[in-house]
Amino acid sequence: MEKREERNVEEMDMRQDIDPAADGAGTGGAGASAPSEKLKWWTEARFGMFIHFGLYATPARGEWVQSRTPIAPEDYETYFEQFDPDLYDPAEWAKAARAAGMKYVVLTAKHHEGFCLWDTKFTDYKVTNTPYGKDLLKPFVDAFRAEGLRVGLYYSLLDWHHPDFAIDTAHPLHPKDDADWNDPKAYVPLNANRDMAKYRQYMKDQVRELLTDFGRIDIMWFDFSYPKSIVPKGRDDWDSEGLLKMARSIQPWLIVDDRLDLDDKPWGWDFRTPEQFRMPVWPTVGGKRVPWETCQTFSGAWGYSRDEHTWKSAAQLLELLANTVSKGGNLILNVGPTARGEFDARAKDRLAAIGRWMRVNGRSIHGCTAAPEGFEAPEYSLLTYNPRMRRLYVHLVFYPMGALACSFADKIKWARFLHDGSEIEIKPLNHNLIDRYPEVPKHNFILPVAKPDVEMPVIEVQL
Ligand code: GLC
Repeated sequence: MEKREERNVEEMDMRQDIDPAADGAGTGGAGASAPSEKLKWWTEARFGMFIHFGLYATPARGEWVQSRTPIAPEDYETYFEQFDPDLYDPAEWAKAARAAGMKYVVLTAKHHEGFCLWDTKFTDYKVTNTPYGKDLLKPFVDAFRAEGLRVGLYYSLLDWHHPDFAIDTAHPLHPKDDADWNDPKAYVPLNANRDMAKYRQYMKDQVRELLTDFGRIDIMWFDFSYPKSIVPKGRDDWDSEGLLKMARSIQPWLIVDDRLDLDDKPWGWDFRTPEQFRMPVWPTVGGKRVPWETCQTFSGAWGYSRDEHTWKSAAQLLELLANTVSKGGNLILNVGPTARGEFDARAKDRLAAIGRWMRVNGRSIHGCTAAPEGFEAPEYSLLTYNPRMRRLYVHLVFYPMGALACSFADKIKWARFLHDGSEIEIKPLNHNLIDRYPEVPKHNFILPVAKPDVEMPVIEVQL
């Protein structure tokens, strides 16, 4: 059992092995570093909310619980019979997202378990047939739009409930025996009566429905392909090309992630998706910087996980946000609502802390990107830049005592703390130091010794 769990994790990680630069052709249709018109709102937004909500909120051990345990479909039915998020109030979710400074949201319309949050015509495995009995999706899109956020949908390519979805290593009905689990031949009899062509049609029907019945959808987040697995699935299994063409024919402005196994097609994806990874550099394809979004959890799992104790602090999350934007990327931060349909206290707490910071510092995130060439981040800081305003933002990840060396003082018109607008003076080093330590930058930002009462202070620099 334990071995299997490990494998499933590997299976997930495997996605990261797919070389993003495969043959250098993909530019995300985004014109490399210059975002296309379509991506403009998205790159300016910089910060979004992911929401993983489904039957898995009840076992409360993450959204992979069915595969990892594993739980046979007939036993998993219990969670379908129990699904009743009576406190679900998407207006509350949307308010929390907006207050945190998030500009878009992506909700799991269907995750790997196959359960659908809307009243789809193509399966009975949907919210309207649970004790809750109502569509969740329409109120959701309305509530988030009302708060001014753009709305995206996550659609799982995997489906552990659909009878025609071929069993693979992650499927809860995978072979029980370890040797068989590793042997592609062991899957052949298991899949004798499963017809992926029917499943492909099912996906098309559902995606068409999602893109037809809920107004404008800004993002489709397809998840995921594993062409290198022992029992692989990729573009042919999903008909990725057909699926994507159909989606775009309905809503041409759609922004699409990169998990359809179409890395080598320039039209096959719009942005890269390094998952749970703090990017140290701006990712490139064929030597060109590409649009990217890192998806991250507060704790570890995406679906509600009651007993997880690995929650990131507000300070870590803010650093992650500033780091992402300093490398030209977006951050989509995930909430896994509880089985009652609420954000739990730990998520609310982090969101509120982020919101307090964003209220005064959001200007260093929205509309920002990496600093232009030639600007070196002062020690322990992260730089972002708003090209339209020509302003540079120095995020003081660690708050230094008194003075902070600055190597671009000659380019600065004015500097101030962003949170209170108070002037930050820039002073030359004294002569003694200049003479004796010629390698030291010749100017300092002069900071108050006591750290201001803000999580990660930001210096706003007018160039
Ligand atoms: C992975 C996981 C999934 C999660 C997603 C978010 O693909 O399988 O549970 O939804 O990553 O990026």
